[in-house]
Amino acid sequence: MNDSGIRINPSILAADFVNMQAELARIATADFAHVDVMDNHFVPNLTFGPQMVERIQQTSPVPLDVHLMITDPDRWAPGYAELGAASVTFHLEAAADPRALARRLRDIGARAGIAVKPATPIDGLLDLLDDVDQILVMTVEPGFGGQSFMPETMPKLRALADEAKRRGSHVWLQVDGGIGESTIALAADAGADTFVAGSAVFGAADPDLAIAGLRAAAAQHAHDHGAK
Ligand code: DX5
Ligand code: ZN
Repeated sequence: MNDSGIRINPSILAADFVNMQAELARIATADFAHVDVMDNHFVPNLTFGPQMVERIQQTSPVPLDVHLMITDPDRWAPGYAELGAASVTFHLEAAADPRALARRLRDIGARAGIAVKPATPIDGLLDLLDDVDQILVMTVEPGFGGQSFMPETMPKLRALADEAKRRGSHVWLQVDGGIGESTIALAADAGADTFVAGSAVFGAADPDLAIAGLRAAAAQHAHDHGAK
C-alpha cells in the first residue's frame, strides 16, 4: 500500500480467467484487486460468484475491492464482506436500503462503497456520505471492460469532491471504466483518488509498469489527498 492517497486498483475482468493465480501475481504493486461481480440481471454480463471470489481472496497478493453489479445487493453483499473482501461496493440503483446495507458491511469489517451509473444523479448519495467509505462514479455503462471513458460524468465527481471537502469527509472517490494514462488525469483533476483500470493494466506487457505509470499520471493531477 502506498501513502500518496492515490489508489490504483486493476480490474481482473481484463485478466485471463483460467490463469487467475498467475494474473493476480502480476499486480502485486497495486493497492487493491478490483473484482467485478455481474449477475446477468443488473447488467447484461455474468462473471464470478462468492465461491470464486473467496478463492481469489485467498490467492490475491493485495486486498479485494469487490464491485457488485447485481440486483438485490441487500441480500448478497454481506456475504462478500464475510468472505474477507476489504471493500464491498454495491449500486445505489439496485439497493432497497442503502444506508442499512452500508452499515451492515462496515459492521462485518469491510469498507462500504456505493456506486452510481453514468446517468444516475448524485443527489441520493449526499445523505449517505457519512455511512460509506467509498463512492464509485462509473465512467462507462457497467457491464463490460474496454469501453471509452465518458467525460460527461466528471461534473458529478467534482460536486462530490466539493461536498466531501466541505464536510471534512475522508470518503474515497473512485472511478471505473476507460481509465488509462490520459483519462486518469481528467478524473484526478475532477477529484478522484481511487482508480480502477482493467485493459490498461492487464493489456500491458508489464502490469507493474502500467500501474506505476497510472500512479504517476494521477499524482500530477491529484488534489491534496495526503491525509486520507
Ligand atoms: C465495467 C467494470 C470495470 C471494467 C473496467 O462494468 O466495472 O471494472 O473492468 O475495464 P476497463 O478499464 O477496460 O474500462
Ligand atoms: Zn468495476
